[in-house]
Amino acid sequence: MKNIVLTGFMGTGKTTAGKLVASKLGLSFVDVDAYIEKKAGMRISDIFEQFGEEYFRDLETECIGDIVQKKNLVIATGGGAVLRKKNVQLLRQNGVIVHLDATLDTILKHTSRSENRPLLQGQTAEQVKQRLASRTEFYQDCDFTVCVDGRTPIQVAQRIVECCKA
Ligand code: S3P
Repeated sequence: MKNIVLTGFMGTGKTTAGKLVASKLGLSFVDVDAYIEKKAGMRISDIFEQFGEEYFRDLETECIGDIVQKKNLVIATGGGAVLRKKNVQLLRQNGVIVHLDATLDTILKHTSRSENRPLLQGQTAEQVKQRLASRTEFYQDCDFTVCVDGRTPIQVAQRIVECCKA
């Protein structure tokens, strides 16, 4: 079975759904952000603060390169991973890409209390809306889209499993 790769904007529930899918299918779960934090020995917010976004993006590409060497994984990517073509190529090599889609309302609800998402700090709803719009075309480059609005994480996980088995 190919790796199952979850993409989507911050707050679409990639990590939560990914863990559920992995346990349903008996696969291992890898969260790219957690992998980056472990490799760097720093929290994402500190990486951004001390070294900037470009440095974080390079680290993200390096970590994705490590992770895709393994099989039988469910991989939850960070919301910006799809912005680099190289990352998408790596993830596609042995993976089926499932985009978790959500409305701005859902995203704002899910991220209202985040403190480890530097790109959302101090952002207005309008700014988040613009960032989401600017990424739409990147998220569309996927094998399946699963809408998370009004669905519980278990329902989202079920949909992902159905898509990947089809
Ligand atoms: C980012 C999303 C974050 C994390 C970093 C950048 C983004 O991951 O990788 O803060 O550019 O959308 P989540 O989508 O898991 O919050």
